[in-house]
Amino acid sequence: MNFDEYIDRNQYPTMKWSRAFLSEHFGNEEAIPMSVADMDIKAPPTVIEHLQARAAHGVYGYESKPESYDVALEAWYQNRYGWKIEKDQIEPCPSILNAISILINQHSDKGQGVIIQPPVFFEFKMVIKSNGRKIVKNPLKLPNGQYRIDFDDLEIKASDPNSRILILCNPHNPVGRVWTRIELERVAEICEHHDVFVIADEIHGDFAFPPHQYTPYLNVSETSTQHGAACISPAKTFNISGMADAMAIIPNKAYRQQFHEFAHRYQINKVNVFASVAMEVAYRDGAEWLDALILYIQGNVGLIRDYLDKNAIGVSLVEPEGTFLVWLDFRELGFDAKELARFLAVEAGIAISPGYWFGREGAGFARMTIGCPRATVESALDNIVDAVRKRS
Ligand SMILES: Cc1ncc(COP(=O)(O)O)c(C=O)c1O
Repeated sequence: MNFDEYIDRNQYPTMKWSRAFLSEHFGNEEAIPMSVADMDIKAPPTVIEHLQARAAHGVYGYESKPESYDVALEAWYQNRYGWKIEKDQIEPCPSILNAISILINQHSDKGQGVIIQPPVFFEFKMVIKSNGRKIVKNPLKLPNGQYRIDFDDLEIKASDPNSRILILCNPHNPVGRVWTRIELERVAEICEHHDVFVIADEIHGDFAFPPHQYTPYLNVSETSTQHGAACISPAKTFNISGMADAMAIIPNKAYRQQFHEFAHRYQINKVNVFASVAMEVAYRDGAEWLDALILYIQGNVGLIRDYLDKNAIGVSLVEPEGTFLVWLDFRELGFDAKELARFLAVEAGIAISPGYWFGREGAGFARMTIGCPRATVESALDNIVDAVRKRS
């Protein structure tokens, strides 16, 4: 497993690397691409081998999902997290956002509120708005360098009868918190009390840095199980976002039936033959590869921590507990939100996502994707330090 290997992604129209994308979003097509949350790292060798064998077969017609796929998925969650997913709780669909969009439609009406916890993955806002729902903010708090859920505020927002849903990001993109069981229990309690349905987006669940542990939301209590749905996918875990399908896990039978009908109505329940192969083999044989990758990513985090401590340029790391994203704090530099974005992209030459993309609560911060060779992280850090020194 050589995670240091440089792979030229410009061979294909990779979103994160494309000149058009860099120019449009960062005003610098030469910037080091570290924004979109996929990795510049090859998928596990076993996934690549199985895909090659599948491609060599030459016939890619209609297929059904094999029984062995569910077995691999269930074993993965049972063995790693003690979460027993029953086969009949699984609703496949093409992507996480797709599942979230369906669940929003199912559990709220137009004009009703969906609670999010900014700074948070910006697509939540888009999917709420495009479904004609209202965004309700329960901003995270940042006491002593660690993000926390503001439970008092959540109680207030959830108690509004117009608030129907909470989208929980577990672990949290971009701030890197891996919510604890105690925190999740409190979320479940509040949401149950006010009849708010919880959509737990757990796409980053496989990336927790020990001793932190990912707790599947639906595994927290009977309440969370019956009043929530989890959206999971191996896309981030094995770097197969361009190909993986996702799943909504819906233990409540009536809700699951509704979701199923919706998926059927819009005909989104077809099987992608390559996704099936990749996902099954990744869940079945990918544990060792993932454990090594998590260590490598922790190494990248360590590099950033040490480098920023040593150079003392007024930029600090919000210590992540998981994910392959880091949330950097530039507030000491005193830039406003747009100026920071320009400074990073143009003066430092790095395309990292400016914090205000994740809500105004993210102003002064930026998110760097570090699922990449260490050398890329080193270059980005050198660029930041040089640009800050040039300014001062
Ligand atoms: C928290 C979170 N949810 C969902 C997605 C997107 O998942 P999908 O491509 O399956 O819709 C991402 C991708 O960055 C993400 O970070």
